[in-house]
Amino acid sequence: MVRRAVSGTLPVLQLASEAVPLVKTGGLADVVGALPAALAEHGIAMRTLLPGYPAVLAGLAERQELSAWPELMGGPARLLAGRAAGLELFVLDAPHLFDRAGDPYRAPSGGDWPDNAERFAALGWAAREIGLGALEAWRPALVHAHDWQAGLAPAYLALAGGPRPGTVLTIHNLAFQGQFPASLLAKLRLPAESFTIDGVEYYGAIGFLKAGIAYADRITTVSPTYAREIRTPALGMGLDGLLRHRADRLVGIVNGIDERLWDPGRDPHLPQPFDADRLELRAVCRRALCDELGLDPATAPLFCVVTRLTWQKGMDLLLEALPRLLGLGGALAMLAAGDPPLEAAFAEAARGHPGRIAVRFGYDEGLAHRIFAGTDAILVPSRFEPCGLTQLYALRYGAVPVVARVGGLADTVIDANDAALADGVATGILFGPPSVEALVDALERAVELFGKPEAWSGLQRRGMSRRLGWSNRAAAYAALYRALAGPQTP
Ligand code: ADP
Ligand code: GLC
Repeated sequence: MVRRAVSGTLPVLQLASEAVPLVKTGGLADVVGALPAALAEHGIAMRTLLPGYPAVLAGLAERQELSAWPELMGGPARLLAGRAAGLELFVLDAPHLFDRAGDPYRAPSGGDWPDNAERFAALGWAAREIGLGALEAWRPALVHAHDWQAGLAPAYLALAGGPRPGTVLTIHNLAFQGQFPASLLAKLRLPAESFTIDGVEYYGAIGFLKAGIAYADRITTVSPTYAREIRTPALGMGLDGLLRHRADRLVGIVNGIDERLWDPGRDPHLPQPFDADRLELRAVCRRALCDELGLDPATAPLFCVVTRLTWQKGMDLLLEALPRLLGLGGALAMLAAGDPPLEAAFAEAARGHPGRIAVRFGYDEGLAHRIFAGTDAILVPSRFEPCGLTQLYALRYGAVPVVARVGGLADTVIDANDAALADGVATGILFGPPSVEALVDALERAVELFGKPEAWSGLQRRGMSRRLGWSNRAAAYAALYRALAGPQTP
């Protein structure tokens, strides 16, 4: 399956730690899984390098061994090629690093795997080898690394010192930086001279994301607003200085949604397909969801959240705002996983308000789809949000987004203020700053608007008709790649 790029197409290698449908803990997987097909329409032949987790190896068809390393970060490793779910994959099969079921980053007992530095350095090293031409038959013009797990790839390529492909790093979330002890430098195959403030050094440690930001030819993040925010001390998480320094290389491109997987008109997870022209059919999904979750269908508006439970997502703010949400007559459907104390607090709220609050903990793809299709509105009170995908899925499925005015949320939802309503452009409710008071205020506005059926269904229809797919966004990536392609010399 390894063949030369058709003339006119640009071969690009992306590497990441997750990709839908093989392995997913968050939106990163959605983006990585969707990019290759979206980019193919723009003449980009993208292949994806993933770690050989059991789920990835199990899903790999047309498997072919391309090369082997007797020793890579503590054990033997092989590079496999194959296909899965429409993706052309390279898989780093290194059982000593990746043959572990469950969460890709954390041990079942909780806590990060102690060898995460070696695990993801190996991934970056494999990308370096492919980038430098280890596979005769396929050589990328460009290497695109996603998040800290891939952050060493641009560093390894730059430090190799010879002609190399261009490199792009995408920051999906600056809160996860991958910091490891300096004592690992040699083991991670990083030269001593790279341990400087301009290199991989970060507050005395090795920073994987920092290294990617320092060495990549271009840096992208997943919305223009987040691209601005991360250059400020408030949201730069210690990297704002470097990001300001590299600002001329930094651009924000909003994520799209994969319209093959997220289309209420033909979504196998839904009891009833619907679209903006058949909005009344949505009521079937709402009733079925209420049945499934044990909610009283008469209570409205029915809000939802589908989220990781972390400080980022502001679910503690929602917990405090719950009495007001109920006081306004609303209900809540929650699908979430994460912080145990928050899970416990929401579980208790559900016990205290049967029929009004329903919670499901754990990861459930089908239920996520049914929730977007069956609730009236989604709440995303994030303290920061690089892009956010759930508000996009909600828009597409007719659940009105009520979101904090940060990051990609600010870039993808148009607030229903009087002017936007009059102009017929509003799609949801924005509030700021992320606080309990502002959230309560937004809930009050949402309930008031919900009481005006025409205005509400206008918001729904407009959101559902927005162009949320990848096509424009993929064009932006393709333009970026083309500007960079071709061998870079030191
Ligand atoms: P983040 O990547 O920060 O978690 P995003 O909004 O970009 O946030 O992406 C989250 C993705 O994970 C979406 O596809 C969302 O539907 C999904 N998701 C989050 N929590 C769950 C859950 N408990 N079950 C199923 N899907 C979930
Ligand atoms: C991250 C961010 C989220 C973004 C996703 C995909 O996990 O938290 O805002 O949508 O990556 O880019």
